[in-house]
Amino acid sequence: LRTAILVSGRGSNMDALIAAARAPDFPAEIALVLSNRPDAPGLAKAKAAGIAVAAVDHKIYAGREEFERSLQLVLETYRIEFICLAGFMRLFTPWFIGQWTGRMLNIHPALLPSYRGLHTHERALADGVKIHGCTVHFVVPEMDEGPIVAQAAVPVLDGDTPDTLGARVLAQEHVIYPLALRLVASGSVRIEGNRVLGAMAES
Ligand code: GRF
Repeated sequence: LRTAILVSGRGSNMDALIAAARAPDFPAEIALVLSNRPDAPGLAKAKAAGIAVAAVDHKIYAGREEFERSLQLVLETYRIEFICLAGFMRLFTPWFIGQWTGRMLNIHPALLPSYRGLHTHERALADGVKIHGCTVHFVVPEMDEGPIVAQAAVPVLDGDTPDTLGARVLAQEHVIYPLALRLVASGSVRIEGNRVLGAMAES
């Protein structure tokens, strides 16, 4: 399964996916890393790892649709069949999402449906929750919604800061994103309505 990883930043989830996909029996191949930021550290790392990279700078497009048509063209050029969003900080229009229904995953640093959006670790700490975590889900037009493929839970410890909690969550992101991609790419899971059957949970 020819897979593209879309990144805007440091790309640590990208690293985990690239590393996992090196296993000979992994059912997906990372065929492209694509960024909306030409200077994204993730892009440089992917290039150094010998992966094809491309940048489509959203700032030079008049609007979201023009930007997305350009993204789509690059994805078609590389014959991409599946997308993993990994810290990709642009929202998509329903048109783009429609092109990739059932073929695009995202990772979110919270246990959805709790804490959609940004600053999830700060908000979890402010609420005093004792369990936090991360979620891999299929992308649908509503932000941070969509059928859930995998989740991992971590404890919130006394004295945690957003950084210490975030690091604990991130370590689990690096575990469940490759597992989720494996499940989906191998056809081990199927979507029924808003549910993914055969999905996994870790704690
Ligand atoms: C991660 O926390 C991920 O959950 C969120 O964006 C961050 C990306 O980090 N969607 P990285 O670029 O993968 O290191």
